[in-house]
Amino acid sequence: MKKIRKAVIPVAGLGTRFLPATKAIPKEMLTIVDRPTIQYIVEEVVASGIQEVILITSEGKSAIENHFDYNYELDNVLKEKNKHALREELARTSNLIEIVSVRQKKPLGLGHAIWMARHVVGDEPFLVLLGDDLVRSETPCCRQMLDLYEQVGESIVAIQRVPMEQTCHYGIVEGEATAFERTCKVSRMIEKPSLGMSNSDKAIIGRYLLMPEIFEILGNTKPGHGGEIQLTDALQALSNRRGMYAYEFQGRRYDAGDKLGYLKAIIDVALDHPTLGGPFRKHLKAVCGNDDCRL
Ligand code: UTP
Repeated sequence: MKKIRKAVIPVAGLGTRFLPATKAIPKEMLTIVDRPTIQYIVEEVVASGIQEVILITSEGKSAIENHFDYNYELDNVLKEKNKHALREELARTSNLIEIVSVRQKKPLGLGHAIWMARHVVGDEPFLVLLGDDLVRSETPCCRQMLDLYEQVGESIVAIQRVPMEQTCHYGIVEGEATAFERTCKVSRMIEKPSLGMSNSDKAIIGRYLLMPEIFEILGNTKPGHGGEIQLTDALQALSNRRGMYAYEFQGRRYDAGDKLGYLKAIIDVALDHPTLGGPFRKHLKAVCGNDDCRL
């Protein structure tokens, strides 16, 4: 079984749900308490033992690459001002992991974005993390998937259960339970089903572990809805060809590319923050009125 060493993070989308905030700033750079969203995602990759990140970027996203780069001038200014803790923090960010970028020249969909990574990934299985999907968990979500991969040796999509009326917003997986904990074998995948099309509540989130055959499949996938190359169509083909597992990860997922999901992430991260958590909780209690507040 080939070891997984690389993670692809597509960040080339337009972020229209977050306009006007994302007109000049990538949504992945919007701050959750004290770090941009993308940093939490890269930190999950690092904590899972991965060695290389491949960012799929586009025009206007250079702030993401700069964030993980070394800034000589800033470092010198901080050095002169004896701000050593800040210097260390910045050095930690720029030394987190090896990062390679690939440009997606047009936003032709998530499937196309992943296909852009084919030359850098090569013939080995790899992880995909969406640049705006935050998962908070004791064991990093990617690590949970890698542990399962060591047992099943095939592609895995991370899923969460959603209320039936929300299934129309997700790629939905159908399949039979397996002997592996929280895992089912995928039989069918449906992109954003309308009510009645599927009775499954298993929604795909932004974490995938994929076999390299996905690149050949994506290369032959015709554009679908909105002229975009949809990942779900290619996943179904990969699942038919080799088999695929859906894993109900342990933890909480936030769609940080959506305004409400982003706000929920900020609240939960802030409440757990070592220095801000206490005063922030006090503030929230005051806002909701102490009587019913269970914070
Ligand atoms: P989203 O659909 O959430 O991103 O894609 P978007 O298109 O930027 O967002 P909205 O809907 O307009 O607000 C999921 C992930 O795939 C990337 C996005 O950057 C995001 O991380 N993506 C999407 C690409 O890299 N390229 C694309 O062509 C589309």
